[in-house]
Amino acid sequence: MSVEWMMVGISQMARAAAERGALLHLLAKNPARYAHDIAHGGAGPALVVHEVDTDDPQAIDRALKAVGRIDGLVTVDLYDMRVLDHLASLGLPGQDPESVRLVRDKARLRDHLHRAGLSTTTGIPLTASSGWRDVAERLGAPFLVKPNSGAGSAHVRLIRDAKDFAAFRREAPPAEEFVAEIYLVGPLFSVETFTWDGQTRTLGIGSRILSPEPAFREEVYAFPTALPEQDRAEIDTWIGQILASVGYTRGFAHTEFIATGHGPELVEINPRLPGVSIGRAISETLGIDVYAATVDMALDHRPAIMDAELRPRGGASVVFLYPPTPGVLRDVTGLDALARHPGSPSYHPQLAPGDVIRSIDDQYGMAGFLTTYGATAELALLNGISAAGRLQVLVEPLLTFGLDVAER
Ligand SMILES: Nc1ncnc2c1ncn2[C@@H]1O[C@H](COP(=O)(O)OP(=O)(O)OP(=O)(O)O)[C@@H](O)[C@H]1O
Ligand SMILES: [Mg+2]
Repeated sequence: MSVEWMMVGISQMARAAAERGALLHLLAKNPARYAHDIAHGGAGPALVVHEVDTDDPQAIDRALKAVGRIDGLVTVDLYDMRVLDHLASLGLPGQDPESVRLVRDKARLRDHLHRAGLSTTTGIPLTASSGWRDVAERLGAPFLVKPNSGAGSAHVRLIRDAKDFAAFRREAPPAEEFVAEIYLVGPLFSVETFTWDGQTRTLGIGSRILSPEPAFREEVYAFPTALPEQDRAEIDTWIGQILASVGYTRGFAHTEFIATGHGPELVEINPRLPGVSIGRAISETLGIDVYAATVDMALDHRPAIMDAELRPRGGASVVFLYPPTPGVLRDVTGLDALARHPGSPSYHPQLAPGDVIRSIDDQYGMAGFLTTYGATAELALLNGISAAGRLQVLVEPLLTFGLDVAER
């Protein structure tokens, strides 16, 4: 049983389930989200999709009862802790909900790691009365503000002065809790891990290209980053300590860090595989199957990736495609050039023509993403950037008065 999943991988999980004599039931709020993967991934008859309001524990419960016997459960990105608790109460093997709760609360996580000596920085939860000067006096300027449990880099801003802070206050959604953090300076990476029985194995390091500040929009991901042996050993030790410290004893984790001049500094821990097509890219470059591992984990079997040899046989990159301005998505052109481009580029749409892109400051403005390969991560990345240059994301202007086109 999978309560939602990512844009990519549900078909591969269904095939892995079939190989293990199981059926995969997917509870999905919006089954159309999975249509591209199902159409291209060969899910076969082992996938049964149920349309269910997955924000509602009772609706999930009804769906679980209707299915009957359930041997294992897979979940992803459960921001609603009620659903997380409910699923944990079923007693099926899975992640420790307390640990997921801790890593989802960025202020609490930062405080926890600071006390444990694993983060030099601290965070301050912002209140309605926090002023720029108080925060700057405590954290130094510039500092960074971000939603306490956000995703997609939405509303993450660098605050250089009182003017930036006032602009952030104007734009920030009032219902959201924010945390201010010391501004970490250096390139962003992620360490992709798998933990089983409390033992963490690093699968590899992913690199990232971000937009210019003051926003932190992700533009390119590449895997696996070649690091000097000593740096890699330092990361392996560091991530083992971090995940043990938060009580994360089972599952994939996608932990972002900034390589500062004084070592890795944590940005956030995502208690799941990385998003978009990165899970597949990791599988293909290492010759492993992260989706089969997910099914094995749900069935309480030690996944083969804990013992597999992890020697990269190539690199992969994912380029996120944004329009040049906000607007109503019209089309993505140039796709026919991809067939001739090296690196086997494949395009995966996230939005459909007619969808409104209100902001291009964060990943929610992404029209789609392009996966590309190469003999090394560097070549995959160059193939990806070159191939993405052939594509144009076309938008119609948003009406600045009255209603948006899509709402009329
Ligand atoms: N303290 C910090 N110092 C410098 N940059 C930071 C800091 N915290 C976050 N960032 C930058 O902001 C980006 C988004 O922050 P974070 O990952 O915590 O939020 P998010 O919304 O979960 O992002 P995403 O879903 O895009 O990973 C990070 O990728 C990083 O580039
Ligand atoms: Mg992040």
